[in-house]
Amino acid sequence: MRTTLTVIKADIGSIGGHIKPSGKLRQTVEQFLKERGKTLLTDWYVSSTGDDIALLMSHCHGRDNADIHKLAWDAFVAGTQVAKEQGLYGAGQDLLKDAFSGNVRGLGPASCELEFDERPAEPFLFFAADKTDPGAYNLPLYLSFADPMHCAGLLLSPRLAKGFTFTIMDVSHTHGDRVIELNTPEELYDIACLLRDNQRFVIESVRARAGGEIAAAVSTSRLHNIAGTYTGKDDPVALVRTQGSFPATGEVLSPYRIGHYVAGTMRGSHNGPLMPSRLNATISFFDGPPVVTGAAFCVHEGRFTEAVDVFDHPFWDWVRLKVSEKAAEIRRQGFSGPAMLPYSELEYGGVVEKMKELDRKFVVRPESGAPAAKRARASR
Ligand code: 13P
Ligand code: 13P
Ligand code: MG
Ligand code: MG
Repeated sequence: MRTTLTVIKADIGSIGGHIKPSGKLRQTVEQFLKERGKTLLTDWYVSSTGDDIALLMSHCHGRDNADIHKLAWDAFVAGTQVAKEQGLYGAGQDLLKDAFSGNVRGLGPASCELEFDERPAEPFLFFAADKTDPGAYNLPLYLSFADPMHCAGLLLSPRLAKGFTFTIMDVSHTHGDRVIELNTPEELYDIACLLRDNQRFVIESVRARAGGEIAAAVSTSRLHNIAGTYTGKDDPVALVRTQGSFPATGEVLSPYRIGHYVAGTMRGSHNGPLMPSRLNATISFFDGPPVVTGAAFCVHEGRFTEAVDVFDHPFWDWVRLKVSEKAAEIRRQGFSGPAMLPYSELEYGGVVEKMKELDRKFVVRPESGAPAAKRARASR
C-alpha cells in the first residue's frame, strides 16, 4: 500500500511565554482533525514540543496535497482562536500569511513528508525540535546515515554499505529551492563541507542507494526568510524510516547523545546544546536548552501503532545531565563570542538598529604626525 506521512507543525500560542501550548488549544486542534479530517486522513497523532503543536498525519493523497495542507492550516486557525480567547502568548505566531494558498510552505508552519510503498513492517521515527532551526538535524542525520561510528549497519549490512543520497538545500536562497544531491560514501567530505554551516545548508532528504527508497525528510523553512524579520525560531520536524535498507532505530538515535550546540534558545539568538527530551516536553532554562523529542511508530495500511517515547529511558536521563552541564557552561559567557549568534544571524531588529546608530558614532583616528589638513579630513 502506498502511504504518505505528513507532519505540519506550528507555534500558535503558549502558556507563560514560549513554553507550552494549553491543553484546551491542543484539544481544539485534535478535535478539528478528528471531525474535518474524517474522510481525508487514515490516521493522525497530535503532540507538542515546547510551544509548538505538531500534526502527524497518514493518508493516501501524496506529498504537497492542497487538501491535507489546508486541513492543517485550518486546524491551526481554529487553535489560534482559542489561543486568543485564553490570552496565550504569541497567538497565531507562526501563521505568517493572512490566507492559505495551496501549500503551507512559505506561510510559516514547518512541514516534511514521506511517500512510500509500505513494507510488511514499517517502523519510523518522528522528531520535533523547539528553540532551534532545521540545521539542528544536520549532524545527527549525517552521523546516523554516513558514519560507522554511529551506524554499525554501514559495516554489517551489504544494503546499507551501498550508501545514501543526501539532498541538501541552500536555505539562504529565497527565490525558489536551491538544492544539491551528493552520495555517500564517495562524496562524504563534500557533504561535511556543506553541513558544517547549519544556518545555510540543511539536509532536506535522504534516500537509500540500494533500491532508491526515501529514508528521511526534514522541514527546511526559515521563518526570517519568509517574514523578513524575527518572528520566532524555525523549530524543525523530521521523519526517518528505520531498519531494513535504512539505519536501525538505535543507530538513528545514537548521535543525540552528543547534545551538540545548535542555534536557537533565548530569543533565537544564541547557541545551546540540543537536549533529547520526553514527548510533550516543556522549555525552561534561558528559553532552552533547545529540545528534540522523538516518537517511534509502526504504520500499517496507514494506521499508526501507539507512539513510543524514544528518549524516555534511564540512558537519556544521564545524557540530559551532561547536556545541562554544556548549557550552563556556554551560558557562563553570556553574550560573548560563540555564546551568541553572529551578527548575520541575529534575528531581533533591535541589535541591527543599534549597530547602525553606533556606526554613525565611529571616528577614524588621525594618524599621528600627519599634516594638519589630513588630520582635519580624517576627523570629519
Ligand atoms: P532483532 O534481531 O531484535 O531484530 O535486532 C536486529 C537489529 O537490527 C538491532 O539493531
Ligand atoms: P519560539 O520560536 O519557540 O516561539 O521561541 C521564540 C523565542 O524568542 C524564545 O526566546
Ligand atoms: Mg513561541
Ligand atoms: Mg517554538
